[in-house]
Amino acid sequence: MTVADLPATCALSATIHQAYPEDDAVFAERLKLYPDGCHVYAAAEGIAAYVVSHPWRAHDAPALNALLGKLPAPPSTYYIHDLALAPQARGTGAATWIVKKLADHARERELHTMSLVAVNGSAEFWQRQGFAQTVVPALAEKLRSYCDDDARYMARTL
Ligand SMILES: CC(C)(COP(=O)(O)OP(=O)(O)OC[C@H]1O[C@@H](n2cnc3c(N)ncnc32)[C@H](O)[C@@H]1OP(=O)(O)O)[C@@H](O)C(=O)NCCC(=O)NCCS
Repeated sequence: MTVADLPATCALSATIHQAYPEDDAVFAERLKLYPDGCHVYAAAEGIAAYVVSHPWRAHDAPALNALLGKLPAPPSTYYIHDLALAPQARGTGAATWIVKKLADHARERELHTMSLVAVNGSAEFWQRQGFAQTVVPALAEKLRSYCDDDARYMARTL
């Protein structure tokens, strides 16, 4: 992902995540803070998928639509903020491939877990990727910011 990809990425996000809107500034800040974790996947008709991810603190998750300010030093997990595929790109195995690439990157960074907040009925997909729900009482309020009763913090050991 480059700065030039931000308008198309944000437009795709607005289409897919209507129930979980995030400001364009959130995408721009993640890209600025951690470009190695932000990728777009091109199709003939434009961007078909994107992922936004970055090193973070284990047992923590940013609230929805919140700026990070800076990344933790040192980090203790690799956090997947958002993975979204346009409908025509789903069911192709691309999402599984992307998660594998992120895991490889996290290992290269010597991080031993990955984590995320699963929304939008995606928990079963994440379970298939090796993630399990992890109950962190201190995260309850942040999970409420996702406006999804099924929002859950999940983590995977690498
Ligand atoms: C979640 C998402 C990335 C999964 O992409 P996908 O293309 O369906 O994933 P894959 O084809 O790689 O599927 C991998 C496996 O997970 C399963 N799976 C995918 N989504 C699932 C879901 N919502 N519930 C149950 N199983 C699911 C697939 O059937 C497949 O199973 P298999 O390995 O036995 O064949 C995609 O549906 C998406 O972009 N959704 C909208 C955005 C979103 O909700 N992102 C997650 C936010 S936390």
